[in-house]
Amino acid sequence: MNDLKSSMADAADAVERALDRLLQLGGDPEDRVIEAMRYAVLGGGKRIRPFMVLSSSAMFGVDRASALRAAAAVEMVHCYSLVHDDLPAMDNDELRRGKPTCHKKFDEATAILAGDALLTRAFEVLADPETHQDARVRADLVLALAEACGERGMVGGQVLDLMAETTDLNMPEITRMQRMKTGMLISVACEMGAILGHASENARHTLHAYAHDLGLAFQIADDLLDVEGSIEKTGKKTGKDQAAGKATFVSLLGVERARGQAKMLSDQAVQHLEIFGEKGDLLKQLAHFVVERDA
Ligand code: IPE
Ligand code: IPE
Ligand code: MG
Ligand code: MG
Ligand code: MG
Repeated sequence: MNDLKSSMADAADAVERALDRLLQLGGDPEDRVIEAMRYAVLGGGKRIRPFMVLSSSAMFGVDRASALRAAAAVEMVHCYSLVHDDLPAMDNDELRRGKPTCHKKFDEATAILAGDALLTRAFEVLADPETHQDARVRADLVLALAEACGERGMVGGQVLDLMAETTDLNMPEITRMQRMKTGMLISVACEMGAILGHASENARHTLHAYAHDLGLAFQIADDLLDVEGSIEKTGKKTGKDQAAGKATFVSLLGVERARGQAKMLSDQAVQHLEIFGEKGDLLKQLAHFVVERDA
């Protein structure tokens, strides 16, 4: 596990520096929105998605600078989704990553705009020739990320999640919601290394299958932390899902079965990676970490 911990810490440091470089204040009046963007992305978070981009990139010998730009782009999208998720119109949360949420620190309009700008900026970073010399690779990155975040991906999942506050969902419906809301961004993060490294379709599919299982396990763990986690460790308020009457894996299955399901999915995720041999070790360890985490 030491291996994983130090690799995750290195990845978090490197992505922090990349995000800092990409989001510089310009000395203009509109700097306020850049300050809000920096507030939302810097100085916190587990950086799991950037770690996935960097680890999958390392498997295919991708240049570190390219991988870091892609990792930063994915984290920008993730942080935008958190800023909007916390807004009063959505989950109405006041604490994120142990700090006041973006709209509390700034104001709602600035938080909305900072989220919008982070989303847009992510695509700008991917489309920039600095990310990869091959225009086809850049277009593939942009397409994959766009498919993961829109109405058939994360945004669609967020719509279903809000509906889950007032509708009872069954297992297949919750699975589909979580897959869209959380799983698709995790999938694209894992696939980015294969795209950047011109890996085979088969390798990309394998990473997709891994991430498919892992993404669900990840969201079940998040739902479990909402019930059992602590505000000190997670840096966010707990008990929110139940208070909102939200259908989750935990509300449907109960804590014990939800934990069993997460563990089963994480084991299944690991099995997909067998074809990569030792190269898949970090992502295998990550699969265990995701379901054992306390934050
Ligand atoms: C939280 O994601 C939101 C979900 C998609 C469940 P993370 O648990 O990865 O949050 P950070 O980035 O570490 O803050
Ligand atoms: C957030 O899910 C998912 C996205 C931001 C896409 P949650 O609402 O469960 O995340 P937390 O618990 O607030 O981090
Ligand atoms: Mg939410
Ligand atoms: Mg939330
Ligand atoms: Mg949650």
